[in-house]
Amino acid sequence: MRSWVRRALWPRQYDRSSYFNERFLAGLDGVVLDIGCGAFRDKFALPPTARYYGLDLSGRASHLRGDGQRLPIADGCADWVLLVAVLEHVERPAVVLSEARRALRPGGYAYVAVPFLQMEHAAADYWRWTGQSFPRLLTAAGFDIVEMGTNGGVLVLLDYLLWHALRHMKRTQAWLVLTMLLALKALVQPLARLDNGIDDPLFATSFHALVTVPGEAERQSGRGSCQD
Ligand SMILES: C[S@@+](CC[C@H](N)C(=O)[O-])C[C@H]1O[C@@H](n2cnc3c(N)ncnc32)[C@H](O)[C@@H]1O
Repeated sequence: MRSWVRRALWPRQYDRSSYFNERFLAGLDGVVLDIGCGAFRDKFALPPTARYYGLDLSGRASHLRGDGQRLPIADGCADWVLLVAVLEHVERPAVVLSEARRALRPGGYAYVAVPFLQMEHAAADYWRWTGQSFPRLLTAAGFDIVEMGTNGGVLVLLDYLLWHALRHMKRTQAWLVLTMLLALKALVQPLARLDNGIDDPLFATSFHALVTVPGEAERQSGRGSCQD
């Protein structure tokens, strides 16, 4: 898709996710382990005090190649863990969370973002969480929840689905349906920009949480290393 068309049709859902990422990562500091990093580092400006280590199954965009279900790093070495749009892609998300907890120092933070009402979007896309199951998943892994955020709203959801439907119609060359959906998107998109559906779990597209490992901080932030 040409970049100006892409920009014009870009769904509000993604701007909202970026809003949560920026809000919850405001205090980012010290050793930051980004599990399933993909190209996250290119999308967000991190504070200079953050020592960033990206880890991914795929070696392309990452600093460390590894599986989040068996982190190749020492206990308690990280001040922060990021798990953004990753848990739905792993077979055992609870194991990744327990590894994340092991990697964090007491008092360390994890920022976790997961989808709810989203279409299947990768070859390995196994899970969705609701506003009720997501906090349970986090507390079962031994985290305390500091703050939760809900991205969504009925118009944001419609706009998001229309964006993906348009891409699908383009791929399958269904031009008539594409034209009709484009007309619908022209109606929905401006309204979605007005939709203040944040914190509406009924039509949530994603949930975002800042969590912490209970316990006193054992050492000052930023002094550790995540390399064994
Ligand atoms: C949807 S992308 C999200 C990338 C990035 N966190 C972001 O927000 O832009 C999911 C990433 O998780 C990675 N991934 C999937 N399973 C993984 C696993 N078991 N261990 C580590 N990374 C994994 C994929 O390779 C992919 O880069």
